[in-house]
Amino acid sequence: MERITTTDEVPEQGSFLFTVTESDGREEEVILIRDSEDEIAAWKNFCQHEIDQRLDRGNGAVTRDGGVICPKHGSIFDGSTGYCDNGKAAGSTLAEVDITINRTDVYLTDDDLAFEHVGGISDDDMPGSSSHLGF
Ligand code: FES
Repeated sequence: MERITTTDEVPEQGSFLFTVTESDGREEEVILIRDSEDEIAAWKNFCQHEIDQRLDRGNGAVTRDGGVICPKHGSIFDGSTGYCDNGKAAGSTLAEVDITINRTDVYLTDDDLAFEHVGGISDDDMPGSSSHLGF
């Protein structure tokens, strides 16, 4: 169980971005957001319509009424279920990440993921860059 951040760091609007490593060694971005009940939820940082479309492009995802809005085509994903019932991503659900809140700390409790660092994957590590050839 790895501590990601504190609940204070998860904004009312927008998102808190961090990077994890998948069990196969790939890096992936995750966002923490507040849903309409002010509960914190964690989702992998990509749209289900086009999976190379990030929801948080480094400046926080666009959120409204506890939902996450895809910056490309504007589909809105429910912040607590991840489900989308509108636009191009209708019928899809964001990829969930397991977290646990203990008092004011947010922990990563997803067995498939290891916490790397706060913030997004650095540009050097983006898919297609030479740094991935080692895998
Ligand atoms: S890429 Fe997100 S709705 Fe199209």
